Amino acid sequence: MHQFQYRNNELYCEQVRIKDIAEQVGTPFYLYSRQTLIEHYRRLDTAFAAIDHLICYSIKANFNLALCKLLCEQGCGADIVSGGELYRALQAGFDPQKIVYAGVGKTAEEIEYALNSNILMFNVESMPEAELISQIATRLKKTAKLAIRVNPDVDAHTHDYITTGKKENKFGIDYHDAPEFYHRVKQLPNLAVVGMHIHIGSQIETPQPYIASIKRVITLLHKLRDSGIHLDVFNMGGGMGIVYHNERPMPATEFAAAIVPLVANLGCRLILEPGRYLVGNAGILLTKVLYVKKTHEKTFVIVDAAMTDLIRPALYNAYHEILPVVKNDSAKMLEADIVGPVCESGDFFAHNRKIQEVQSGDLVAIMSAGAYGFSMASNYNCRPRPAEVLVEHATYRIVRKRETYEDLLKNEK
Ligand code: LLP
Repeated sequence: MHQFQYRNNELYCEQVRIKDIAEQVGTPFYLYSRQTLIEHYRRLDTAFAAIDHLICYSIKANFNLALCKLLCEQGCGADIVSGGELYRALQAGFDPQKIVYAGVGKTAEEIEYALNSNILMFNVESMPEAELISQIATRLKKTAKLAIRVNPDVDAHTHDYITTGKKENKFGIDYHDAPEFYHRVKQLPNLAVVGMHIHIGSQIETPQPYIASIKRVITLLHKLRDSGIHLDVFNMGGGMGIVYHNERPMPATEFAAAIVPLVANLGCRLILEPGRYLVGNAGILLTKVLYVKKTHEKTFVIVDAAMTDLIRPALYNAYHEILPVVKNDSAKMLEADIVGPVCESGDFFAHNRKIQEVQSGDLVAIMSAGAYGFSMASNYNCRPRPAEVLVEHATYRIVRKRETYEDLLKNEK
């Protein structure tokens, strides 16, 4: 479900004709729909309404301040993984008491910054990290709240690069070592061990891997309780899949119907950390066709966006739907590789894709690009990063200016 639909063969975002935005803003640019974003948040929040829960948006998916602000206005919290994300989350207005901090490599400076900002809790991933948080909290005369990230050793059946809950992954504490880990951490000064965290991967399309991992950690929660450790928070992480192509991911209501009965009687507040589910289908990348190049082997549609703007196809061989901004039902179909201008053969958006015949100057939309799009963009080949535009009903505004050539040099001496 999203608000990018055709009207009379022209692609609109909510009530705005996308071609009009492109004429004003230039290409490439990211385009976000406010309504789509908020609807996704509300749908998930409503689905879990029966139990005490907090949605902490995983801002790595898309850290744009305007989008973050929209979510925090809805009551949403934030899941962060760095000092930079903490800074952004605070600037966007997230309540520090709704911020959870994950990641295997938090630095001393980042830990101190988070403690001084009074975040809700750290999701701890190793003993040396717990010891460092304890030392810094002691020096600052504070108590750091922690959840321990447990690796449930469950296969989320997703791309290898975005699987995180198997025992060979770098994340979390080994399931079997967890009880002893909890007891050891509990001995450290100035720490309050309040929760358990899991995150098994990303773009997960069925509830089964969640059910399997939650069942596993519930056994652990009971074991801990029997040995005197009572936890108040269970954080089940993020990872809910979205539609990119012909996936049929679970709707929020079905997802909640599978999860709520498992966790309702744990006596814990549930935290969810969705990223992609909230923003993935709320954003698209608009690009212009530069050239159509025919070789003996193939047709290449060369566009002005590149892997520097959206790296998912290059990195994960990810599928993104590609639609013409102006549809022409009588146009011929073309089978082509859609590629960018970067000097890498990996710079592609699609291989052998059937699309409506296009020519120089035509606009195309790369769909489902709201998550891990701009947030993974780079300046490779000295390409300025694109503008970001937010639509609200019949109006739009630039929420991040396109970078300039001067921006590319500004930190150099
Ligand atoms: N919580 C933790 C601890 C995470 O590591 C992540 C994502 C999330 C929540 C949010 O996951 P989501 O709900 O968005 O699936 N760049 C990749 C995805 C990497 C995900 C990293 N961790 C992609 O473009 O598919």
